[in-house]
Amino acid sequence: MTRRMKDKVSIITGSTSGLGAATAARFADEGARVVVSGRNEERGARVVDGIREAGGEAAFVRCDLDDEASIRSLVAETVERYGRLDNLIANAAATATGSGEKGKGILEMSNEILEDSIATNVRGLLWLFKYSLPALVDAARPESKQTSSIVAIGTSGTRNGAPGSPVYWATKAPVEVMVRSLAREFGGAGVRVNCVSSGLVETESEMKTMTDEFRKYVLGLNALPYFGQPEDIANACLYLSSDEARYVTGATLTVNGGASF
Ligand SMILES: NC(=O)c1ccc[n+]([C@@H]2O[C@H](COP(=O)([O-])OP(=O)(O)OC[C@H]3O[C@@H](n4cnc5c(N)ncnc54)[C@H](OP(=O)(O)O)[C@@H]3O)[C@@H](O)[C@H]2O)c1
Repeated sequence: MTRRMKDKVSIITGSTSGLGAATAARFADEGARVVVSGRNEERGARVVDGIREAGGEAAFVRCDLDDEASIRSLVAETVERYGRLDNLIANAAATATGSGEKGKGILEMSNEILEDSIATNVRGLLWLFKYSLPALVDAARPESKQTSSIVAIGTSGTRNGAPGSPVYWATKAPVEVMVRSLAREFGGAGVRVNCVSSGLVETESEMKTMTDEFRKYVLGLNALPYFGQPEDIANACLYLSSDEARYVTGATLTVNGGASF
């Protein structure tokens, strides 16, 4: 343990499972006070217990990205509990697996999944940025190069196309654009804003729907002959959130085994 996040207060959305849970554990291991968040309180409590058992500090705050008031409360409760907010990892999303869209093409597109995914992945993400930024600005001291930061999780499959799941790709592609725009708007205030663009990572939810055919397809694209693990994304988030990245903003760090460059 190197304590690269000592005393930092970090909200990690969608940390009741998958990449978010791995990132929460990694940040806590490096000394951060972590706010685990999502809609599922039972899974959230399990992630918090795991962090505490390993000697870290964490609390669960329920948040539904479809509910504006709940996003405001997430930030308010974090600041009330820990006094500040240094890092936001905007990881929660309606995924193709979670929404039930995986394996379906545009001709089978469901309007319900379309509306729900826009609400969570676009509107919810913008609300999350809007309500977190004032606290992130408060925590930054740009005159002494002390920054706060946002890392948003994008999807590298948006780059060179992938078969099916058109709603998922369309609602995840804006992440990189939002990041660049906010990096310009908030750089002067000392808030760095970056993206980790993830390729296929073996999370529990991905593995549930993984077919041999899709596995072969992705490995055929990868430059490296293996899939990513949740820890690979956690490590990228850690670097971009730490002081080691104090001169990095508006960047997209692609972590996808070379599936696209
Ligand atoms: N795994 C991959 O291969 C891969 C590849 C590229 C990008 N990504 C991106 O990585 C992120 C995490 O994906 P994952 O694979 O770790 O999936 P996951 O295990 O299904 O995690 C998704 C998380 O988002 C939360 N969530 C979903 N809808 C929400 C809502 N309306 N409000 C609040 N939280 C919500 C879920 O929490 P609750 O159920 O508790 O609400 C869950 O913790 C996503 O942004 C995804 O697009 C993943």
